[in-house]
Amino acid sequence: MFYETSGPHGLPHDPFKSLVVPRPIGWISTLDAEGRPNLAPYSFFNGVAGSPPVVMFASNGAHREGGVKDSLANAEATGEFVCNLATWDLREAMNTTSAMVDRDCDEFALAGLTPVPSQLVKAPRVKESPVHMECRYLKSVDLPSNSPAQPNRVAFGQVIGVHIDDAYLKEGLVDVGRLKPIARLGYMDYTVVETIFSMTRPKV
Ligand SMILES: Cc1cc2nc3c(=O)[nH]c(=O)nc-3n(C[C@H](O)[C@H](O)[C@H](O)COP(=O)(O)O)c2cc1C
Repeated sequence: MFYETSGPHGLPHDPFKSLVVPRPIGWISTLDAEGRPNLAPYSFFNGVAGSPPVVMFASNGAHREGGVKDSLANAEATGEFVCNLATWDLREAMNTTSAMVDRDCDEFALAGLTPVPSQLVKAPRVKESPVHMECRYLKSVDLPSNSPAQPNRVAFGQVIGVHIDDAYLKEGLVDVGRLKPIARLGYMDYTVVETIFSMTRPKV
């Protein structure tokens, strides 16, 4: 089949999110301007540079109270955020923090998670997560949107500090198979990283 994205696809659900898979989940913790903690998952998330390391997450649509979603608003207001790794063991808690709750709701408390201080930023980390990346917000980029009330905006942040639970380091390498990161597929589906293979790049 072929469809133009400006027209109908003829399928029961939009297939796009099933075609860019798996998407890693940036579990973004922030503080708002009043110092209240916030936590939410974003699967339009990725690393986009390595040296120095830079990540991005995209906020799509509006907060139910209007305006952009809290994670983006807080990153822009405070200039920092933390990316926590969402793992198999934390899947239910991660999902709980995606609830469309009031701006002043502390999703750490909602999901029974423990905020712990970061080293370089004021935004807290999720203690139960084995990996945290402390980020300095760099900039936002507005993307096309089908409605002004439903903005699409990407926030970029430079990773300035990385925490890795030593239990997940094996001979100096990150043991991703033990970490079991979860990632988003389309519809209501997820995957978990359990199968790993290696390839050596060709020499020209
Ligand atoms: C696995 C998962 C991935 C999500 N990815 C995104 C995303 O990439 N962009 C987005 O705007 N919302 C995404 N959401 C929905 C947000 O988590 C949800 O709107 C949340 O309430 C935003 O919280 P905040 O306003 O505290 O930032 C995702 C939800 C789940 C469960």
